[in-house]
Amino acid sequence: MFGVTAYNELKVDVLDDKSFMDPENFKNTLDFFNEPHTIVSMPRPQLETYLADNQIYLGRSEELMREIAPESISLSFWSPPYFVGKSYERDETFESWQKTLKDVIENHAFVLKPGGFMVINIADILCFADDNIPRFQAMNVRNQKCDVTREMVLEVKDKHPNHNRYQLAEMLGCSEQTIDRRLNGNNIRGGKYQTQTRVKLVGGHLEEYAYDVGLYLYDHRIWMKDPTWANSKWTSNSLKAVSEYEDLYIFWKPGQQVIDKEKLTPTEWKQWGSRGVWNIRSVRSNDEHEAQFPLELADRVVRLFSEKGSVVLDPFMGSGTTAIAALKNHRSFIGIEKEAQYVALANKRIKEHTRQLRLLD
Ligand SMILES: C[S@@+](CC[C@H](N)C(=O)[O-])C[C@H]1O[C@@H](n2cnc3c(N)ncnc32)[C@H](O)[C@@H]1O
Repeated sequence: MFGVTAYNELKVDVLDDKSFMDPENFKNTLDFFNEPHTIVSMPRPQLETYLADNQIYLGRSEELMREIAPESISLSFWSPPYFVGKSYERDETFESWQKTLKDVIENHAFVLKPGGFMVINIADILCFADDNIPRFQAMNVRNQKCDVTREMVLEVKDKHPNHNRYQLAEMLGCSEQTIDRRLNGNNIRGGKYQTQTRVKLVGGHLEEYAYDVGLYLYDHRIWMKDPTWANSKWTSNSLKAVSEYEDLYIFWKPGQQVIDKEKLTPTEWKQWGSRGVWNIRSVRSNDEHEAQFPLELADRVVRLFSEKGSVVLDPFMGSGTTAIAALKNHRSFIGIEKEAQYVALANKRIKEHTRQLRLLD
C-alpha cells in the first residue's frame, strides 16, 4: 500500500489534508462548472507525410507542429521563453509571446494521443515592467543617509507650492533624489532609469489556453532549483524573496492513461514520483545555452508521464535536454527549435550522449 506508509518512512508528519473538501460543501461550484464546455477547434489539412521521429527541426513551433502526425505524441515536455529578456526572445512583445504560447498549446490538442500529457516548465515573471503602477514605497531605515524626512519636505512644499524638487532640495540642503524619494517612495522594484516592475503570474494564462482546446490541468509540481541571488536585483532592498523555484504544469488530454506502478522503484515513488516538490540543482554553467533545464528534471518527467517506445515532443528544444532524456529511457523524440545554433548544439549533445549510452550497453 502506498501513501501513509511511504510518508511515514520518510519521517514526514502525516497531517489531515484540508485542501480536499467534501463535494457536499461546494455544490454551487460544481453547478457552475457543469455548464457544457465548448472546445474551440480548427480544421486541419491531411498531409501525405509527417515529421519523422528522432530529428530536430529548425523553425517555429506554431507552424511546424502542424506537420506532426495527429495523435502521435504521448508526452510533450517543454520550457518556453519566460518573457524575461533572454536573447532568443528579443523580438517578442508581451502580446506576441502570449500568442506563441496559445498557438503551441492549441497544436497539442491535435498531436497528443488521447490520455497523453503536456508538461510545461515555466516561472512567473518576477520583474514585469509596468509604467502605470504606483511606486512600491519603502523606507529603508538602516540605509537612510540623509536626515530630511517626508514631513520636512511636505512642510516646505506647503509654504512654496510652486517650487520644483531641485528648489526644494536646495532649501533643505539635500539632493533632488532625496526629495523625490520622500515624496514618491523609493523605486525599489526598478531603478532611477528603469521602469517600475511587479510580479506577473503566468499559470492562469496557460490553464485558460489549454482549457479552451480541451486539455485539462491534471497536476502542478514545483521544481526547487538553486536560489538565484544575482538575478534578484531588487531583493536586497525589499522584502521580496529570491527566485528559487519554477512550476511544472501537467495537462492531460482526455483518454485512457497507463498507470504502471513498476515504472519507478518503491524508493523513487517515495522520493519524487508522488511528491509535489522536486529538489534538483540548476545547470551550473549556462555557457552553451542561456536557459537549459537539468537532465534530471527531463528524466523524471519522461519516466513518469510516458511509456517505453512512445514519442516525446519538445517544441522549444534548446540544447536538446528532453531528447537526451527520451533516448536514455528508450523513447523516441521530435524536437523543434527556432535558432540554428541551438539545433546544432542539441544535435551535438544528443550524439555525445548516444555514444555514452552505447558504451554503457
Ligand atoms: C527556455 S529555452 C529551452 C531550453 C531547453 N529546455 C534546454 O534544456 O536546453 C526555450 C527555447 O525555445 C526556443 N524558441 C523560442 N521561441 C520558439 C518558437 N516559437 N518555436 C521554436 N523554438 C522557439 C528558444 O530559441 C530557446 O532555445
